Amino acid sequence: MAEPAPVLTNSRIVARYRERTPKSAKLADEARRAFPGGLTHDARALDPYPLYVERADGARKWDADGNDYVDYFGGHGALLLGHNHPEVAAAVTRQLSLGTHYGSAHELEIRWAQAIQRLMPAAERIRFTSSGTEATLLALRLARAFTGRTKIARFASHFHGWHDHLAAGYVNRFDGSAPVGVLNAIAADVLVLPPNDEAALAHAFAAHPDIAAVILEPTGGSFGRVPADPGWVHAIRRLTQAHGALLVFDEVITGFRCAPGGAQAVLGIRPDLVTMAKIMAGGLPGGAVAGRADIMSYLDGGESKRLGREKILHFGTYNANPVSAAAGIAALDQVATTDVCARANAYAERLRAELNEAIAAARVPWAAYGTFSGFHIFTNPKGRTMAPDRFDPLALPYDELRTNDPALVNKLRLGMLNEGVDINGWPGGNVSGAHGAAELDATVRAFAAVLKSLKDEGDIRG
Ligand SMILES: Cc1ncc(COP(=O)(O)O)c(C=O)c1O
Repeated sequence: MAEPAPVLTNSRIVARYRERTPKSAKLADEARRAFPGGLTHDARALDPYPLYVERADGARKWDADGNDYVDYFGGHGALLLGHNHPEVAAAVTRQLSLGTHYGSAHELEIRWAQAIQRLMPAAERIRFTSSGTEATLLALRLARAFTGRTKIARFASHFHGWHDHLAAGYVNRFDGSAPVGVLNAIAADVLVLPPNDEAALAHAFAAHPDIAAVILEPTGGSFGRVPADPGWVHAIRRLTQAHGALLVFDEVITGFRCAPGGAQAVLGIRPDLVTMAKIMAGGLPGGAVAGRADIMSYLDGGESKRLGREKILHFGTYNANPVSAAAGIAALDQVATTDVCARANAYAERLRAELNEAIAAARVPWAAYGTFSGFHIFTNPKGRTMAPDRFDPLALPYDELRTNDPALVNKLRLGMLNEGVDINGWPGGNVSGAHGAAELDATVRAFAAVLKSLKDEGDIRG
């Protein structure tokens, strides 16, 4: 996540952003009096102020001043089907008229779970949560209860939400020390290991026999910004099995996106537990932990009593709420019965290639890369001599892939907004099945124009 960059007063890019978005500027002034930093999510930070969006449809969204944008935030990755997919919208509308919260069991929660089970065989049992953060929190508790062990191994740069157990090692604290507000005692039992390093994990298992679980984003940190070598992921499966630890695939972003069965289907690996959110809730709030029935049975009161062990308590006002269930069922039906995953993947592959052509034409030492329906822009923080067609992210240290100049990324994003494209701060984005040829052309044209502006303003050499 980029730190707020200094506001630039002498930049044509910044001036144009201000000219185009006066209503966003006004709303941002009000927001600063309501929210710390004027923000409701750290990843939405932008200087001099964030864009305020009024409506969205398909692959596009419109700001408060009526400007339209090709959207690559995609609801932080939740909107594989794009905004307002007709089947999802109809299911939500229907459910709204039937009630939003019963505080009771209801049939849709079963249908929702069955839709997940159909796509993900590892989901022998499921417990719904309200978010991906809650899902990873519950997964770790299940793993510790099941194994009777204490420690968790995680990988630097992989994101698993913001709760205390996994707060260190994504943006900072790669030494595993406790971020502000987190207890040292919690951080001490979470090992932050380097990604793509089988030996480091083997060494951790040798040094710590009490590792309960290893959790990872199975295609790499931030949806492949730091890509995971598939051979390394298979090694993690072998090592966890050999040492009696659980393997938790955090498929909050990859689930139902890389392929209908998620990254686990592509990799051919069956994790013990899976965390999911985003697409599985059809763009509404929702998440889940799923996995082996024997592990999930720690949530089963009857079974726990029979075995004379303590049950894991788990509540949550919005668990399996009927509106999210309706949206999730409709979305997962599209995933199961259409080629939406493949279409989004194909678009992103073409986009990455065309962005690299623009980079090469502009003679800028950057590269577009990524896997499945994601794309990332490597902005070359160390000033390497490089060409985009020979760029291999796996050959670079993870911290070089995840580091960039916040002021430069901020300006890149402003420039893209000026040209009608909203990318996120990786920098990069998520593609949906609603992105088509018009969006691709608009994005590549915008990117070429912004590279030129950044060169003109002296922000990049080349
Ligand atoms: C891989 C991964 N895990 C967990 C989370 C946290 O999910 P949520 O934002 O729903 O709490 C995210 C969110 O982006 C994610 O990408």
